[in-house]
Amino acid sequence: MDLELSDKVAVVTGGSKGIGLAVAEALGDAGARVVVGSRTESPQLTALRERCDLTFVGVDLAELHGADRLIQAATDRHGRIDVLVNNLGAAAPRNSFLDVDDTEWQRVFDLTFFSAVRTTRAALPHLLADGGGAIVNISSVNARLPFPMVVDYSAAKAALRNLTKALSEEFAPRGVRVNAVAPGPVRTPFWTAPGGFADVVAAEAGTTAQVAVDEIVPRQMGISTGRISEPQEVADLAVFLASARAGNITGAEFVIDGGQIKTT
Ligand SMILES: NC(=O)c1ccc[n+]([C@@H]2O[C@H](COP(=O)([O-])OP(=O)(O)OC[C@H]3O[C@@H](n4cnc5c(N)ncnc54)[C@H](OP(=O)(O)O)[C@@H]3O)[C@@H](O)[C@H]2O)c1
Repeated sequence: MDLELSDKVAVVTGGSKGIGLAVAEALGDAGARVVVGSRTESPQLTALRERCDLTFVGVDLAELHGADRLIQAATDRHGRIDVLVNNLGAAAPRNSFLDVDDTEWQRVFDLTFFSAVRTTRAALPHLLADGGGAIVNISSVNARLPFPMVVDYSAAKAALRNLTKALSEEFAPRGVRVNAVAPGPVRTPFWTAPGGFADVVAAEAGTTAQVAVDEIVPRQMGISTGRISEPQEVADLAVFLASARAGNITGAEFVIDGGQIKTT
């Protein structure tokens, strides 16, 4: 299937690892010119630069002007933007709502919600000026399934889901489609990094992080397929939504959770 992404300019936030890296790779493989913004350039991203038209921008998107810097770098380099993937998001394991102070609420909202607000605000004029395009927001099942363990992150993802719909309503008539992908657990550093969620689940169950993500998480979370998702699977969906093949899809949320959400 030709995704018709050849030579399109695509910006991906938080693309040095995990889902963002997989999205950057899938976009690059589809022929897009990719601009990735994250704080550090991972070895995998450096390797990807060898075979794709990929620009790395070192930027902290939690900072007020980080989004402007990323979008400026993309337009300086390519003169246009066709696709924006708001992938950045972050959570920390919480014991209780009562332990999360204002600073932490603000940090999680800055990373998970306001980074998308600011990047979209900076990028949208370019998408509109260049005849339209697509925005894909990487949300989470937690937008609809708020977990106490990620109480602040769940609320931020709910806000992102809501924003996706509002943006799609306003900008569809001007040629910009806005959709969300809502993954359940995905095998990324979010889970697997030292001190990540796999370690927390493993400590509670008295087992290893590997067993936690492969067996305990799918069981505890009721994932019908019996496994968590792989980053590439999320990336394939996001890239399809970014492509002209999804030309009449907007304001939609696509869950990829192996059947974790049980309601219709
Ligand atoms: N993994 C899951 O189970 C899961 C499930 C549902 C939804 N999601 C969502 O999917 C998205 C990606 O998650 P992931 O699991 O791939 O995350 P991840 O493995 O933790 O990777 C996060 C990415 O964001 C970058 N980043 C972190 N802080 C940043 C900052 N201040 N400024 C710029 N870049 C920053 C990191 O690079 P640097 O450290 O180099 O900055 C990295 O590239 C997030 O929105 C997450 O909420 C993930």
